[in-house]
Amino acid sequence: MDELADKHIVLGLSGGIACYKAAELCRCLIKHGASVQVVMTEAAEQFITPVTMQALSGQPVFRSQWDARSAGGLANNMAHINLSRKADAILVAPASADLMAKLAQGHACDLLTLLCLARPLQRVPLLLAPAMNHEMWAHPATQRNAAQLRADGVRVLDVGVGEQACGESGDGRMLEPPDLLYELLRALSPQTLAGQAVLVSAGPTYEAIDPVRGLTNLSSGKMGFAIARAAHEAGAEVTLVAGPVALATPRGVQRIDVRSALHMQAALQTHSQRARIFISAAAVADWRPAQTQDEKIKKGGSRQAPTLSLVENPDILAGIAASERARSGALFCVGFAAESHNLLAHAQAKRVRKGVALLVGNIGPDTFGRDDNALLLVDAQGATELPRAPKLQLARQLVAEIARRLPG
Ligand code: CTP
Repeated sequence: MDELADKHIVLGLSGGIACYKAAELCRCLIKHGASVQVVMTEAAEQFITPVTMQALSGQPVFRSQWDARSAGGLANNMAHINLSRKADAILVAPASADLMAKLAQGHACDLLTLLCLARPLQRVPLLLAPAMNHEMWAHPATQRNAAQLRADGVRVLDVGVGEQACGESGDGRMLEPPDLLYELLRALSPQTLAGQAVLVSAGPTYEAIDPVRGLTNLSSGKMGFAIARAAHEAGAEVTLVAGPVALATPRGVQRIDVRSALHMQAALQTHSQRARIFISAAAVADWRPAQTQDEKIKKGGSRQAPTLSLVENPDILAGIAASERARSGALFCVGFAAESHNLLAHAQAKRVRKGVALLVGNIGPDTFGRDDNALLLVDAQGATELPRAPKLQLARQLVAEIARRLPG
């Protein structure tokens, strides 16, 4: 996806060995459709050359506040103003301890600090990806500067843990390019769910027959995981209760793994106590074996095939939608409907039966396991179609639709 199409990113590099990762980051931003203007400090040039960054970004690198070239289309010799006005975001990666100290103090001693100080505060987000030795990161001065920068509205990103270039080990590694790309996308997303607690269920459930066999379904969890990511991008604090799926946890999302419908119900009931929104995207098994055998059921010699006796699982969504919090409006519930035919009629009936404000219909066989989907949103006012698109794109649209319907 060209997620950064039409976005102008200023990529700032300060001095640190993590400059080598900035080369890959630059490629990654370009690949996602951004135009990238690289700005380097003198110290950064000790680690990577402007030639490399120019080749990767396709634009000459700015290195000095005295650079008289035209910047951002203007030849007024004010690169710090022009570059920061043209930018949709400024990402400094790596951000050294020294650069953070300077920014925290409001210094403007080179082009990078100058343009960070000159950025329009409300319109251009500034992200810093710290990279330094773990002792430097943990030092009270650096932590004090990070706290001051956060209070000033700068997005100081977290750091990775592990082996460092100096041979020591600890906190202070710069985040990897895919994580930095995600943080940039998040900074550029409309914060429609800022600060809201969102609970999402995803994936199938697995109902054990014996220790090695069970009943499950073809849900991949991709839609629910995409919704969790989209809600986090929109500023929510997200808890994802996931059935057994082999998907990576979206960055910043708290994940709780469960197996059976009963496990899922317990986790969702607990977390729905403090959620503002519950999105039930899981394909919960409707039935489970009446009894789970402790030992593997053996075929034996001439034994007949065993008969499975099933009992119905609780309807988790209907239960939560009937809770006091949901009925009082404190919890906004969104259901899904996986159907094979008559989507509109089934979705409308299911919305009423489950007692939810919004129900999202989809055709099960057309979505399970796929990377794209098409959705039909049904609420008391009628139905809205979200045409076939990648699941992440649909998830972002769905989050916007939920935010629009959220009371208050
Ligand atoms: N759901 C649930 N608990 C269940 C079954 C479903 O919470 N035991 C939730 C799903 O997460 C989804 C919605 O209810 O949000 C509808 O699920 P779906 O499988 O489409 O419907 P069912 O209730 O199973 O009804 P039917 O099988 O008759 O279509």
